[in-house]
Amino acid sequence: MKTTSRHGRFFGIGVGPGDPGLIPVKAVNILNSVDVIFCASSSKNNHSLAVNIAGPHLKENVPVRKLAFPMTMDKDTARRSWLMHTRTILDELKQGKDAAFLTLGDPLIYSTYGYLLRYLKQDQPELHIETVPGITSFQAAAAATNTILVEGEESLLLLSGVHGGDKLRELSSKVDSVVFLKAYKNISDICTALEETARMDAALGVVRCGFTDQEIFQDIRELCSLDPRYWTLIISRKGEEK
Ligand SMILES: C[S@@+](CC[C@H](N)C(=O)[O-])C[C@H]1O[C@@H](n2cnc3c(N)ncnc32)[C@H](O)[C@@H]1O
Repeated sequence: MKTTSRHGRFFGIGVGPGDPGLIPVKAVNILNSVDVIFCASSSKNNHSLAVNIAGPHLKENVPVRKLAFPMTMDKDTARRSWLMHTRTILDELKQGKDAAFLTLGDPLIYSTYGYLLRYLKQDQPELHIETVPGITSFQAAAAATNTILVEGEESLLLLSGVHGGDKLRELSSKVDSVVFLKAYKNISDICTALEETARMDAALGVVRCGFTDQEIFQDIRELCSLDPRYWTLIISRKGEEK
């Protein structure tokens, strides 16, 4: 499986949404074989949830390098940090080391990993890059609430809630189930949009899914009345009142 170049291999690992028991066996095997592990951390406090989740599966002697990504909407600032971190990872790979990058949930769903992937591919098209999928937050939330996401010929719309509920207003009539990730800053507009599209009664919310302090809101109105929290998602099934 080694790449023919002198570079080591790069693995994007989905660690799942919170419960260390939901990390794929394949991911654990890779984490036990790589020379260095990377993860994104907040530039404010060096904290990485992905490392906490993967913690029980990490070997003690393998270095874990936290890369501080600024939480910013400024594209230039964000681009500079992705480029800088791509170079940091490449420095290790160029020494022939295998490296893994941990991501919360699945690496290809609203994740910093996507940006690294693009830059690494651009810089080193021959690099061995392998993405190991993880269980997404909304799959885990559906499981935690025994909610069927889609069945038969139904469709599922996955939305970012960063800009509120406008996409839901636009697309609601065309889809069956809807999932909002990043349902925090603009949660009040998301709630208004759920009301306007008659999806309120069929909606539920999950906060910190899979963690010991997980909260489930079968009545979404209750969640809508609280201060927004980052680890919040909303699932709504059309016509399925609870
Ligand atoms: C940047 S996205 C990452 C999504 C992740 N890659 C996935 O596959 O689920 C962050 C958003 O995902 C949702 N999220 C991720 N993990 C969560 C969890 N354990 N509980 C609730 N929501 C979660 C929240 O909506 C949060 O704002």
